[in-house]
Amino acid sequence: MFLPQEFIRRKRDNYALDPDQINAFIRGVANDTISDAQIAAFCMAVFLNGLNANETAHLTTAMADSGTRLKWNQLNGPVIDKHSTGGVGDKVSLMLAPIVAACGLYVPMIAGRGLGHTGGTVDKLEAIPSYKTNLSITDFQRIVCNLGCAIIGQTAEFAPADGRLYAVRDVTATVENISLITASILSKKLAAGLQGLVMDIKTGNGAFMPTLEQAQHLADSLTRVATAADLPLKAVITDMNQVLGSSAGNTVEIIETIDYLTGKHRDPRLHDVTMTLAAEMILLGKQALDPKAARQKAQHALDNGRAAEIFEKMVGAQGGPHDLLDNPDIYLPKASVIVDVIADRDGYIAAQDTRNIGVLLVNFKAGRARVEDTIDPRIGITDIAPIGTKIEKGKTLLARFHLVEPLGKDIAIHSYLNCLTISDTAPSPEKIIHVA
Ligand code: URA
Repeated sequence: MFLPQEFIRRKRDNYALDPDQINAFIRGVANDTISDAQIAAFCMAVFLNGLNANETAHLTTAMADSGTRLKWNQLNGPVIDKHSTGGVGDKVSLMLAPIVAACGLYVPMIAGRGLGHTGGTVDKLEAIPSYKTNLSITDFQRIVCNLGCAIIGQTAEFAPADGRLYAVRDVTATVENISLITASILSKKLAAGLQGLVMDIKTGNGAFMPTLEQAQHLADSLTRVATAADLPLKAVITDMNQVLGSSAGNTVEIIETIDYLTGKHRDPRLHDVTMTLAAEMILLGKQALDPKAARQKAQHALDNGRAAEIFEKMVGAQGGPHDLLDNPDIYLPKASVIVDVIADRDGYIAAQDTRNIGVLLVNFKAGRARVEDTIDPRIGITDIAPIGTKIEKGKTLLARFHLVEPLGKDIAIHSYLNCLTISDTAPSPEKIIHVA
C-alpha cells in the first residue's frame, strides 16, 4: 500500500525514489487524494535533496500521463512550441506563437501562470476580458488547426498534476530546482503532443537560474529528459539581468504585445529574443534551410501584418474581443493611479535588481502570494528605462507604475529606486543571447 508520508520521508532522508511510488504519488496529486501540505513537503524535500536523472525522467512522464496526451494527425505542418523558464516582463510567447503560425508551424501552447517573482503567460492573457485559458480539448485542437496557434493553461485534462505542483511551488519557495522545473515544463509539452520544442532558458538576477552554469545544467536536464521521451529539443540561453521589454505586469504586457505586433513600438532586446526563438522554431520545424532564412521569414510575418492578424483571431476564437488590436483601450482594464519614478541623481543605469522588481509587482497584487489569491490585471510598470540609460536628476523617467490606490505611491517610488544601481560611467553593453 502507498503511504504518501513514507514516500516523502524517503526523499527527506535523501534516498532514491522508486518509479512505481512516483507514479502513485502523482496519481494521488491528480485525483486530489494527496493534500497541498504533502505536495509542499515533497517539493521541499526534492528542493533540498534533489532528484537523480532517472527520478526526474519518471516524474516527468508520470506528470505528463496524469491527463490526456494530444495527438495531431491531419495537419499539414510541424507541431512546434517554445517555453521559457520564466522571468520578469517575458511576454515573448504572446508574439512568438502567431509569428511562427504565420510561417506554417502549428503551436498548441500550454502555458503557465506567474510563478514566484515571475509573470505567467496565462495571467497575462486573462487580462483580456472573456479570454478563456481553459478550453476543451476539441476547441483547443480546432483553433490550432484553423489558425495555427492557441494558448491555454493547464486544465483538468492536460498535465493536471503539474497544475497542483506549480501552484504549491509558487508559494512555498520551491521553484528553483532543476528537476522540478524540468518535470513541470516537459510534462505540459509532452501532453501537448509536440514534434519539437525550443526552450528559452533565462539566466541572470531575475531568473530561476541566476548563473550561466546553472542555466546550462537546466538545459542539459531538459535535453536529456526530452531526448529520452523522443521530443527533439533546442535550448537557447537568454539574459534576464533586466526586465525584458519596457513593461512588466499583465494588462501592460498585453498592450506591449499589441504595440510590438502592430509595429508601434518594438523594444530592441525583446525583438532580438523573439526573432532568435522564432528562427529556432522554424528551423526545428524544417520550414527554412538556415538561421538567416528562418529569421527573415519570421520578420516578414511580422512586417506584413499576418502575425498581428493571427493574434487577434486567436483572442477572438478563445472568447475575447474580435477587434482587440484596433480598440485595446475599450477592452483592457485600466489602472486609476499613475506614479512616475524620476531619477534622483545623475549618471547611468548600471544594473536592475530584476527579481525584486518582480517581487514588488507581486506585493502590489500583480502576482500571487498565496495559491488562492486573485491578481489585479491593472497593476504593472511601463516605460522601464533599460540598463545603460543616461539619466538626469529630476528629469529622466525611470519607470511608470500603474496602481489602483494612491496609498502605494511612495512605496513604489522608493522600492523601485532601490532596485536600480546607478553609476557615474556608462556600463558595458549586456549580452542578450548567451547560448543559441
Ligand atoms: N515554467 C514552468 O512551466 N514550470 C516551471 O517550473 C518553471 C517555469
